[in-house]
Order: sequence, then structure tokens, then C-alpha cells
Amino acid sequence: MTLHFHRRLLLGVTGGIAAYKAAELTRLLVKARIEVQVAMTEAACGFVTPATFQALSGRPVLTDLWDPRVPNRMAHIELSRQVDAILIAPASADFIAKIAHGMADDLLSTTVAARNCPLLVAPAMNREMWANPANQHNLGQLRADGVTIVGPDTGEQACGEMGEGRLVEPAQLLEAVLGLYPPQHLLGRKVVVTAGPTFEAIDPVRGITNSSSGKMGYAVAEAVRDAGAHVVLVTGPTALDPPSGCTVLPVKSAAEMLEAVHSAIEDAVMFFAVAAVADYTPQQTAEHKLKKSSHPLTLTLVPTVDILATVAGRASPPFCVGFAAESRDLETYAQSKRRSKGIAMIVGNLAQRALGSDDNDIVLFDEEGAHPLPTASKIVLARQLVEHAIRRAQLQGIL
Ligand code: CTP
Repeated sequence: MTLHFHRRLLLGVTGGIAAYKAAELTRLLVKARIEVQVAMTEAACGFVTPATFQALSGRPVLTDLWDPRVPNRMAHIELSRQVDAILIAPASADFIAKIAHGMADDLLSTTVAARNCPLLVAPAMNREMWANPANQHNLGQLRADGVTIVGPDTGEQACGEMGEGRLVEPAQLLEAVLGLYPPQHLLGRKVVVTAGPTFEAIDPVRGITNSSSGKMGYAVAEAVRDAGAHVVLVTGPTALDPPSGCTVLPVKSAAEMLEAVHSAIEDAVMFFAVAAVADYTPQQTAEHKLKKSSHPLTLTLVPTVDILATVAGRASPPFCVGFAAESRDLETYAQSKRRSKGIAMIVGNLAQRALGSDDNDIVLFDEEGAHPLPTASKIVLARQLVEHAIRRAQLQGIL
């Protein structure tokens, strides 16, 4: 099995003699299966070359706001969106001053300003620079802004003086980074997720589909991936970019989805059926485009196979989670769907609320009853429902 990275960090290296320690840190991070993207300031490149970090991280090091290797988009936005956290190590007094004031004049400071993820700052500088009131004032500002400051240590400094200002050791920085990520209860386990609508062809150009955007299924795939799983995402046609690090099996019809799920389900520990699968499909697909006439047209539809129920009916099934979009009586319909499909958990939502939107209101149903979740974005809800499912699967001895 290929190695699946699922925890992504941007390591920002700024100018200082301690930059050499960031090389060892990169090695430890990669060993801990964290995907490391290194970005360096111009001053950092005066201490250690980008080639060192490129070799250790296995990825090109970014130094330039206008780097042509970041295609079509703006490097600073792209970079900050591709990672789950940013660590600046070592952080110079100058760089701390910049980000404390929201300055953005190079790739790294611009990326920090544009971030939507946690930021860790590990300062390293001479003890007098550290104690300087302006520096302390800037650090106070960063703390007030929710930034985590790691260190510095006290001891012998590169300049020969003794005191506070040494970069904390790489092993301690690794611990601080690991603390940012959720626990990986699914590490090394396989999980199958279905997502999106299906498309049931009537003729070569027409078909029956529905308005599922696939957003919820993709969010579940992401949450499961972040819990450490090897995710197989079986997806109907959507306009979304699939989450990185997942094996994606694109399908169109319910029959194709059934086949793809069964090809992947062996040795999976969990199955999330998020797709809005067509319940009926045309009995026949016309080989050629249907021509209009003045007569009424009758389409005969036949039921599709219930993918979720067939997975739940396997000899030793994975922990199965279904989704129920209802327009009324959510609890009654969702719980009876859960029982009739023979599954442990079902996620209910009122259909008119969620379709296509980024937010959602959902209620988790299991044999203990209903667990409503507060309104939130689909990715936040996905993380909560995956956590709930993991706890239930642990109780059942599946995990
Ligand atoms: N599902 C499936 N295969 C199908 C149909 C549905 O795996 N052929 C799964 C969906 O992914 C979802 C759940 O079953 O997890 C939805 O159940 P379903 O009974 O299809 O719900 P509705 O189609 O909304 O049912 P109804 O129209 O009866 O409310």
C-alpha cells in the first residue's frame, strides 16, 4: 500500500543561525508522516540552502511570492489553503514584528496573513533581542491573536552569550505540531465513502439525476482521512476537487457505484454511504438519442440495488453509516430507515435545508436515540459525525 500523508504542515524558515535545526525538524516531521511544505525567507536562504530542505521534505521549497510552480493561482492563498497548520521555526525578531503587525511583503509573511489554520511560532534570537520590550510587545500581540508561541529555551547561544532565546529542540517542536492534529483512531485502516448524485442514463445525452452537490460526502472523506484512514471515495459526478490523499473511484450510475463499492469494501472497517443514489433507473437506455414526437412518452423505471443495505448484509460488515434526507418527521423516518437497512448509525437532515449549501443541520441517530449537532459548516459536522461513528465502532469492537 502506498504511504498516505494526511497531515500537512507549512514550515516557514526565517533568517537565523538556528535555521540548521529546522532541517532536523523537517526530517522528524516527515518520519512522523506529516507532509511538509517548506517556505523560506530570503534571509533564511543565507543560512541554509533550499536544496537541503527540498531533499529532506521531498518537495520543492518555495521562496518567492511569484513562484511559477504554483499554477494559475496566488501562491500565498494556495499555500495557506493546502496545509492544516503553519509553524515558523526559527522565527526571527524581525519576522515576529512583521506578522504581529499584519505586514505582508514576501511569500511567507503573506501566507501567514492569509492563513485560515493554526499558527505556531518558535522564536530564536539573541537574549537581548528576546528581552527587548518591542519584541515582547510583539509576542504579546501574537498571543492575543491566538498564535501559539513555542519556547524559546535558555542556554548557550550561537553568539557565545548565555540566556533565553535558543530555538527549542526539534523533538519538542514535533510534539507541539502533533498536538495540533486530531488523534488518528483510523490509522492504517480502510474506509469507503460514497458521495454525490448518480446519473441514470435515458439515452446518450439525457438522464435522471438529483441536486446533491457531493459537498457532505467529500467533507466526510476528508474527516476520515484526517483520522488516519486510507479512504476510498466512490463519487458520482460533482464539480468538486476531490480531497488529497484519497483513492478516488469516479462513477456515474447507481449500478457502477454498487460495483465500485463492492470492489473496495473488502477489509474496510467503516462505510459511509453519503451519496444520493437514485432509487430507480430506466429499465432500458436507448442506444440513440430519443426523437420527440407528439405522443406522450412513458419511461419504465426499475428499482436500483440498495448499496448500503448490501454492504450491511455482508458476512462481517464494516461499521455502516447511512444518510437520510427527509422532508418531514425526521426522527421516525430516519430511525426506521436505520433499522430496515440493518445499520448502526444514520445521519438525518431535512432535505430542503442542506442541498448545495455549505452549512447544514444534522441529527445523528443510533440505537441509543437522537444526537442533534449544532448548525455548522459541512466539514465541522463531518468531523463530529466521524468522531461519533468511531466511538460507536469502538463500543461494538469493530475498531
Ligand atoms: N443508498 C444506497 N443505495 C441506494 C439507495 C440509497 O446506498 N440504491 C443509501 C444512501 O447513500 C443513503 C441511504 O441509503 O445513505 C438513503 O436511504 P434511502 O432509503 O435511499 O433514502 P431515500 O432515497 O431518501 O428513501 P425514501 O425515498 O424512501 O425516503
